[in-house]
Amino acid sequence: MKLRFLYIALICLFNQSFSQNYEAKVDSLMQLMTLQEKIGQTVMYGGHWDQTGPFVGADNGKYIREGNMGAMLNAMSVKGTRDLQKIAVEETRLGIPLLFGYDVIHGHRTIFPINLGLSASWDLKMVEESSRIAAEEASAEGIHWTFAPMIDVSREPRWGRISEGAGEDVYLNNEMGKAYIHGFQGDDLSQPNTILACAKHYVAYGAAQAGRDYHTTNMGEGELRNVYLPPFKAAVDAGVETFMSAFNELNGVPTSGNKFTLRDILRDEWKYDGFVVSDYTSINEMIQHGFAKDSIDAARIGMNAGVEMDMMGHVYRLHLQKLVEENKVPEAYINDACKRILLAKFKLGLFDDPYHYIDEEREATTAYKPEFLTKAREIAAASSVLLQNKNNALPLSKNIKKIAFIGPLVKDESDIIGNWAAQGDRGGKAVSVFEGISEYLNSNQILYAKGCDILKDDDSGFKEAISISKEADEIVLVMGEDHHMSGEAASRTDLKIPGIQPELIKKIREANPNKKITLVLMNGRPLNLSDEVNLVDAILEVWFPGTMGGAATADLLFGTVNPSGKLTVTFPRNVGQVPIYYNMKNTGRPIPESNPKEDYKSNYIDVPNTPLFVFGHGLSYTEFKYSHFKLSSENLTFSNTIEASIMITNTGNSDGHEIAQLYIHDKVGSVTRPVKELKGFQKIFLKKGEKKTVTFTISVEDLKFYNSEMIYGVETGDFEIAITPSSDFKFKHSFQLQ
Ligand code: NOJ
Repeated sequence: MKLRFLYIALICLFNQSFSQNYEAKVDSLMQLMTLQEKIGQTVMYGGHWDQTGPFVGADNGKYIREGNMGAMLNAMSVKGTRDLQKIAVEETRLGIPLLFGYDVIHGHRTIFPINLGLSASWDLKMVEESSRIAAEEASAEGIHWTFAPMIDVSREPRWGRISEGAGEDVYLNNEMGKAYIHGFQGDDLSQPNTILACAKHYVAYGAAQAGRDYHTTNMGEGELRNVYLPPFKAAVDAGVETFMSAFNELNGVPTSGNKFTLRDILRDEWKYDGFVVSDYTSINEMIQHGFAKDSIDAARIGMNAGVEMDMMGHVYRLHLQKLVEENKVPEAYINDACKRILLAKFKLGLFDDPYHYIDEEREATTAYKPEFLTKAREIAAASSVLLQNKNNALPLSKNIKKIAFIGPLVKDESDIIGNWAAQGDRGGKAVSVFEGISEYLNSNQILYAKGCDILKDDDSGFKEAISISKEADEIVLVMGEDHHMSGEAASRTDLKIPGIQPELIKKIREANPNKKITLVLMNGRPLNLSDEVNLVDAILEVWFPGTMGGAATADLLFGTVNPSGKLTVTFPRNVGQVPIYYNMKNTGRPIPESNPKEDYKSNYIDVPNTPLFVFGHGLSYTEFKYSHFKLSSENLTFSNTIEASIMITNTGNSDGHEIAQLYIHDKVGSVTRPVKELKGFQKIFLKKGEKKTVTFTISVEDLKFYNSEMIYGVETGDFEIAITPSSDFKFKHSFQLQ
């Protein structure tokens, strides 16, 4: 105990003289720490709120008291965290505060659309606002740290976790990651409304074989560096405080024991100075991978590779001390890990006041503030994508006599907030589509039938659904996935709308051959909608839109808000096309435009190569015309930049947002380059009849890639360029780099 007071005195002294000198503070604290106490800082166990992995028993109170635990996950609330923090601060030798982490992924109480949906807004400001609000709410409940953002590029719709990221594109994942990080961490981590962010899952987890979660990843270093690593490098540059290693193995080496990615790249090349936490028992799982012979070996491999905190695994607590004593793990690694973890605690201000995230008043008044809900409604609308709108089925008129709302998700208040919805309420707080449309229609205009469940094959509700559909003037179906069908451990081999919902759609069309039918979809991944595009007129993809999702959906259906989202992931025609993404390679036998079915070309004999909906696709109730493309010069050099611009005119009948996308194609490279690559985008608002010119500045930085020697650079030659409304276009303009 005496030492603890000595330490507090030291801290106070430092506070007076070197208020920002965290390093010095940490160094002096570490001089007082035993090896076992340092190892204690590298250990994390779970509280009792949520279980987010296999059950692992842990005696939290005991471990904290003994100085054998530095952080906790899934522990929250003012009361809960105060009780635990009190043990750490008052009953341990040095009184080092605990760090509380939680999966605040797309909102904490106020839930925003799932991240794949958020990315479809292509609105970095909104994405940042969503994570700022999430940080406000989470920090008010004692949370210091979120395990987000997930910046795994993924081209795998079978993989349930595609819902947690920004889709298939590298550039978008870079930009979205930075926006989330800034929203969570703010500009000053010592403010109690900011939390540490965590770049996860490092790395290539989104490329799991066959889309099966936790599965093997194999890829060449070129693909790793050009596609999967860049968002993590961008996160380092954006100042992300923590990283999470992943579950998957990469080219035979598990990523939680991968010295190449963790030490050589992350530490040595990128100079990252935050700390790395394992995923949930991912250090132990190296035994099942066949990479570690037992848990002692796993602890050795994990720490030596550069994983500095063990989430739930028991292996650092139990084995690191002995491993250091036997010279199997350098003590310097433990010192580095401990130092980085303590630094994070200092930055959060926990040494100035271990309880400064623990504030009853904030806890009672922060969740679901009206302004958060207003934002959530706006963001949910901006994240939705109008995939199809035949016969101008949408927007709906408020004067339609009767509209039939059919489907298992019409009245739902649970699936609507999606998976990984933190502490989001799945009952009273979430606004269902039914509640949303009730703001627009009188009850005598609304007909409702559930029709069926998402997962059961009982069709006894079809009769009522068909009967009300016949009574109605127009029909809106609200269908999709159950929220458990995306997120962790939710891989699917079938991308169809699940259960008997497709059958019901068919029956409703048969019963109403000439009526306008709209399908509102809630789901966490690209679906195979090949049948539905022919059965319904309009398709509005709202993802899992969050707490205000029903209200936002109604705003879109009735045209109060004009849809503006665009896909950040390709929707295939069927699962056999997977992986399918916009920036593929050309192959030596691309299909000729004049004859896509030509023999001995890289095509399928049963479906076209093209997807059902391309990356970047999204309709609006108005129309935009792109014209007057200009390049300031057709010659780029290493020292100048060139400007590409285009005029966009709103030629339709309503105001709206448009997302203009810049694509470049490097025609010939020392390694082959993708057929097109997104290099920029701008979201603009145009009133009816208004025109604006959007301009992008292009420099050699935009053209760099890793070559076969893993050198990052640019090669001279010819490049094609376009500014377009989606990735479905042919290049017409080019420039040269000399
Ligand atoms: C496992 C997941 O892979 C990870 O994303 C999450 O942060 C942890 N569990 C903690 O819940």
